[in-house]
Amino acid sequence: MKPIVTLTINPTIDLATAVAEVTPEHKLRCDAERRDPGGGGLNVARVIRELGGESLALYPRGGSTGELLERLLEEKRLRRWPISISGHTRENFTVTERKSGREFRFVMPGPTLTEAEWKTVLDSLSTVAADVEFIVASGSLAPGVPVDFYARVAHIAREQNAKLVLDTSGEPLRAALEEGVFFAKPNRKEFRDMMGPQVDEPAGMAAAARSFLEKGRAEILVVSMGADGAMLTTREGQYRAVPPPVKTASSVGAGDSFVGGMTFGLARGLPPHEAFRWGIASGTAALMSQGTDLCSRQDVEHLLTQVQPTRLA
Ligand SMILES: Nc1ncnc2c1ncn2[C@@H]1O[C@H](COP(=O)(O)OP(=O)(O)OP(=O)(O)O)[C@@H](O)[C@H]1O
Ligand SMILES: [Mg+2]
Repeated sequence: MKPIVTLTINPTIDLATAVAEVTPEHKLRCDAERRDPGGGGLNVARVIRELGGESLALYPRGGSTGELLERLLEEKRLRRWPISISGHTRENFTVTERKSGREFRFVMPGPTLTEAEWKTVLDSLSTVAADVEFIVASGSLAPGVPVDFYARVAHIAREQNAKLVLDTSGEPLRAALEEGVFFAKPNRKEFRDMMGPQVDEPAGMAAAARSFLEKGRAEILVVSMGADGAMLTTREGQYRAVPPPVKTASSVGAGDSFVGGMTFGLARGLPPHEAFRWGIASGTAALMSQGTDLCSRQDVEHLLTQVQPTRLA
């Protein structure tokens, strides 16, 4: 298997802690913090590695937080291609309130990239893409990066004969789909924003997914629906899968784990409906892990036996 390249244009250091109760004004005494590398593409790269695949993570980073990010990625033994920028890598943080079990997720905008910086990222992608089968681009854009950034990524993927997996939202997603991608994984809300309220009914969603494919925007479309599972659409057919029941520790990273698991399956040559099972198992396994932990291979392999997609059409 060739390495799967992941692109993270706005990586972060994810800080996780817990507190008895979140209240204003008083000092909130927190548990010892843990730090993990984060951002869509870095999470996907970690999941692929955890499942036994090879990944190469491409990302900009800068400042002292950028150095810390390097160390954290080294600990995770990720193969990486960092691009130096002048701004500081962002830090996001998640606080679990023990009293209620609720998670508060604070997300920073990230450093502003200059035109020269984001163009260097694209040039680096062109270089690595020449020799790979899959590129996964995931996450929000950093400030300063143009809205057609992922469309440019899609263009590079096509030129280099690589398959692009894209997980993002809003205008950047829309623009990239005009260019066309291999596999897109919006969640229900992201898909609704593109296709309209017909998506709220199961039949309407299935029809919207088919018309999405007919327009040539993607070859594989998965609309993920949290606890309700996900729907897969390809030219060969449409499938629905529900997640096996699990005890939820934290919902952080479910979407990225889904994308990592399904892409890993596709890269191993599995047909889409089989790779889809890996996606569901990985997304659901992420819920069994605490805080910013993603899925573990053991949990994924265990859940896999319980995922049976049903064919809709
Ligand atoms: N509460 C849940 N119970 C069981 N499985 C879940 C749950 N939430 C998510 N999953 C699994 O993870 C997959 C992806 O989740 P979801 O649709 O929430 O993605 P997302 O909205 O992109 O998530 P994220 O917030 O991580 O970006 C689902 O298809 C499902 O397999
Ligand atoms: Mg998501």
